[in-house]
Amino acid sequence: MKRLFATLLLFISVCKSYADEGMWLPLLLGQQVYADMVKRGLKLTPAQLYDINKASVKDAIVIFGGGCTGEIVSNEGLIFTNHHCGYDAIATASSVEHNYLRDGFWAYNKSQEIPARGLSVQFLLKIEDVSEEISPALDGLSADERAKKQSELIATLNQKYSDVSKNIEARVSPLFKGNQFLVFVYQRYTDIRLVGTPPESIGKFGGDTDNWEWPRHTGDFSVFRVYAGKDGNPSAYAEGNVPLKPKYFLPVSIKGYKDGDYAMIFGYPGSTNRYESSYGIQLATEINNPSLVNLRDVRLKAMFGEMKKDPEVKLKLASMYAGVANYWKFYDGETKQLLKYRIYEKKQEEENKFIQWAKGKPEFENIFTEWSKVYSAWKPYAKHRVYLNEGILGSQLAKFTATLVKLESDMLKQGVDATVVKQGLEAADAARKNFLDAENKVSDQQILAATCRMFYNDIDKNQHPIGFYESIRSAYGDVKEAETYNKWAAAVFSNSMLLNDAKWQAFVARPNAATLQNDPAYIYAGGFVKNYTGKYDPFFQQFVLKNNDLGRLYLKGIMQMDPKRKMYPDATFTMRVSYGSVKSYTPRDAVKYDYVCTMKGVLEKYVPGDYEFDLPAKLVELAKKKDFGQYIDKHVNDLVVCFITNNDITGGNSGSPVIDGTGNLIGLAFDGNYEALSHKLAFDKDMNRTICVDIRYVLWCIDKLGGAANIISELKLVKQ
Ligand code: ARG
Repeated sequence: MKRLFATLLLFISVCKSYADEGMWLPLLLGQQVYADMVKRGLKLTPAQLYDINKASVKDAIVIFGGGCTGEIVSNEGLIFTNHHCGYDAIATASSVEHNYLRDGFWAYNKSQEIPARGLSVQFLLKIEDVSEEISPALDGLSADERAKKQSELIATLNQKYSDVSKNIEARVSPLFKGNQFLVFVYQRYTDIRLVGTPPESIGKFGGDTDNWEWPRHTGDFSVFRVYAGKDGNPSAYAEGNVPLKPKYFLPVSIKGYKDGDYAMIFGYPGSTNRYESSYGIQLATEINNPSLVNLRDVRLKAMFGEMKKDPEVKLKLASMYAGVANYWKFYDGETKQLLKYRIYEKKQEEENKFIQWAKGKPEFENIFTEWSKVYSAWKPYAKHRVYLNEGILGSQLAKFTATLVKLESDMLKQGVDATVVKQGLEAADAARKNFLDAENKVSDQQILAATCRMFYNDIDKNQHPIGFYESIRSAYGDVKEAETYNKWAAAVFSNSMLLNDAKWQAFVARPNAATLQNDPAYIYAGGFVKNYTGKYDPFFQQFVLKNNDLGRLYLKGIMQMDPKRKMYPDATFTMRVSYGSVKSYTPRDAVKYDYVCTMKGVLEKYVPGDYEFDLPAKLVELAKKKDFGQYIDKHVNDLVVCFITNNDITGGNSGSPVIDGTGNLIGLAFDGNYEALSHKLAFDKDMNRTICVDIRYVLWCIDKLGGAANIISELKLVKQ
């Protein structure tokens, strides 16, 4: 414990005044960061922010689902999060007849709430430093041994801190790239119900056109509730479960705020890599990002073409489409900003300084020579890996089929236990049902054809699976022609047993490897996956191992070289606090972006019938009448819809509470701005903004538009 405290306090205490960069650990806000927070306008004590014995703000913050944040806003377990975080649950609850995704949904009493099966939330119970139980045992080990030992020790500690009987799960997170270790202990609740959502035309207003851009006018929120057994403990869904009485919930302020006011965000930023090497930046801008963007572009066009035609297809593909589109635009923007801000060159400058400092220090002096070799060894295969994951396996048929590789090898093994094969088949049968439920054949067949062709054109011929493209040529024609792949894909879709119930059931009844090996979908997906795992994945594993180890050493060196440098650990999907202010900005010469946008702008963007900019008739009617009730902002004399702050957040923070200086909720963070899409790798203090939906717009939608006064009356409203 002491070791981490001592080191961290040192990093922290020597930094005087900060910009707004930093994803701080709630237990280690430290005197200097705390003092700076106070200077910026925080009125709470450190114990009101984080305390493991008494109720504190941290008790109101949850991990929502697999990759978002949510916050508790009533003493009956009411949760606010983003619409895009509830999106999958909303789409799953919807049907063509009860289309909640399109029309919205409001529960006017608890019996109308809809169980969201498979969804869970996790409360953070405590964080403890376990560095002493890991780091000394790793000293002096090689990269291989270290990685192995580290995961063993982490697994043991995870088990030690977990308690399955109470749904308590512990996860040790390596921080500062493995220079520190903290255990995060969570309790998971699995009975989560949908309480309300605006129509998608509000929750996703502006669609992908406005995504990652300011100004945007999106009501990106949804409302859920966490239930527990009668004793307050986690319980699987049961009718008799009761709303959870939380340790703490956030009051909601409708007072409004001004440019420059204090704002902090608690939540779960997923990943950043602020000490990435220049080699990593180059790999991203030259190979990884553009490849991903090109492949996703093709997949998105194929899906969109079908979603437009049919509401059922739209519901089926909506959630996957949104996820693919979100990071398609992200990585395209990331590349542009990395180049524009010359991040590669800036990293090189920093590295040159380090290299000078490291001369004569055996632990550090060879880092960059080594690193350069590690990247050169991996680079020839990097594109192949992206083309496999984002291209070949971007077809859902191929992705499902590729999961059968293990079944094939089990069937081929001499003397393998028959129950192993049987279990594999049962799992495959269940997975096939899920795959078919979500499958849209028309778009998937187009994706299969297009991505197979892209692989042929763009990947080094020496890396192609042996014989595959020759067999396409002999059966379907010129491998340069798109039409050849269309014919081939059509044949795969009509002949594969994976898409044919009778053939599949015959296979399940009398399984044998040859049937699988002769299936055209398997020949393809299995072939590409085995080609990669057999020949190229070993290079990748070596790359990851060495890259991680050099990254750890580099960071260790930086901390020694420059002990005054402001340090906070990279995001690891563990709870963080970011503090800063509501803040306007100047994206480029002569342009100034205001810190709020309003209903006036919603109406300006409105395009009736448009896929992204349509609006519910009732919203237009109420907005034209300026019927904003107690939610109006008196300064702008309009309803504020969204606002921006200079907080440091990233994906995973979606749904995070934006909290004012006195601990009240003023908005939900839901996006980042285009000018700072390089933020995972380099924080830009002038450009970086967090985009938030104003809580008054959220409440207006619930109250005026949805008529769900029952939800409003559960909240603790702060009016002055
Ligand atoms: N960019 C947002 C984020 O990653 C998600 C926005 C979802 N909306 C969309 N149009 N895809 O937090």
